[in-house]
Amino acid sequence: MAKGTVDALLGIVFGDEGKGKVVDFFTPRYDVVARFAGGPNAGHTIIFDGKKFVLRSIPSGIFDEGKINIIGNGCVIAPDLFMAEARELETAGYTLTDRLHISRRAHLILPTHRVLDRAYEAAKGKSKVGTTGKGIGPTYSDKAARIGLRVGDILENFEAKYEALKARHLQILKDLNYTDFDITEEEKVWKEGVEYMKRFHLTNTEFEINRCLAEGKNVLAEGAQGSLLDIDHGTYPFVSSSSTTSGGVCTGLGVAPNTIGHIFGIFKAYSTRVGSGPFPVELFDETGDTIRHIGNEYGAVTGRNRRCGWLDLVALKYAIMINGVTDLVMMKGDVLDGFDTIKVCTAYKKGDEVTTEMPYDTEGWEAVYEEVPGWKTPLSDIRSEEALPQAFKDYIAYIEKATATPIKIISVSPDREATIIR
Ligand code: IMP
Repeated sequence: MAKGTVDALLGIVFGDEGKGKVVDFFTPRYDVVARFAGGPNAGHTIIFDGKKFVLRSIPSGIFDEGKINIIGNGCVIAPDLFMAEARELETAGYTLTDRLHISRRAHLILPTHRVLDRAYEAAKGKSKVGTTGKGIGPTYSDKAARIGLRVGDILENFEAKYEALKARHLQILKDLNYTDFDITEEEKVWKEGVEYMKRFHLTNTEFEINRCLAEGKNVLAEGAQGSLLDIDHGTYPFVSSSSTTSGGVCTGLGVAPNTIGHIFGIFKAYSTRVGSGPFPVELFDETGDTIRHIGNEYGAVTGRNRRCGWLDLVALKYAIMINGVTDLVMMKGDVLDGFDTIKVCTAYKKGDEVTTEMPYDTEGWEAVYEEVPGWKTPLSDIRSEEALPQAFKDYIAYIEKATATPIKIISVSPDREATIIR
């Protein structure tokens, strides 16, 4: 029987909720930090000891010498990008090899997976997903088709397995008439990355994590992307290809549902989305530009402009239900400081039909808004709940009432100290 618990820290909308900032606050409480889904499509920006790092595959516990960090079986990993990310951390003085453990069951992203990602997007024309181009979809497709390569494969007879899968990919690309690419250089670095990975603990992390739990150690499952990008529960087909919700913690790490403790759901005081797909609250006007500018809403991985809009309670309530969120964490309240009134989407409307439930097909729905007063006071220097302006407290209470879930942490600026715990 496990004595420790697994708490999950999840972005519960479209990703980019600011997980990077709060892990810094969370990690000291845990012995193990584990990634359970996704890969280098993530970009967790973390400012540590005054330096900025963008973590893609490596868990955020890496900055803390005492933590074990696990890349779980539900993840996909690109050896070349992993090597670059790890070397940057090593150059900054962090030792990784003893503290970073990678599941042998995690799948490998090949250079040809990235070409396939581009080829499939190109073939989709106007209905592009707007992927990050990191080969995520094709890698998870191969996993589901039972032809993928896993981390454990690099330890034995790898070259032949690699060539066989690559040949398969090249045939698909030929059939798609997508031949204008050259992976020679990329492949060289990728193979160097494969060799580099061998110095890490490539283990059966499922056993390791369960041993830790049996010893009473606590695990933080660090989510990537957001709940509405989940392959099952997101706005399909405009989603990523992994299980980003709390269910994915169990399948992506090999831990049982009864080991899960708290499920922290992170959201912003407003909404953003990168890439294509339905987004009923999207603002195409000056308000949207203001939120983007003040909130610095530009992609950490791709640099793309994020689409911006008001808070969407239909999406938030759905995500809380799907994940079983126990505690909410609200980020970036300060971005809305300047507005006289703040809108909140409470329902979606299509013709005469109005719904408060996330529809099966989110295309074509318009947002129905309620308006609440703005606080018109800079929040970023406030460090205690008592000092928050009343209108902001009212906004918090409004969201808590609508979602029936407590907001336990409020972040009012990127600074580490600007985090109010309730
Ligand atoms: P993919 O994960 O690269 O296949 O991209 C699928 C969709 O998920 C695209 O709309 C991406 O913009 C989005 N996406 C993937 N990873 C992230 C993330 O970490 N933050 C926000 N959006 C993401």
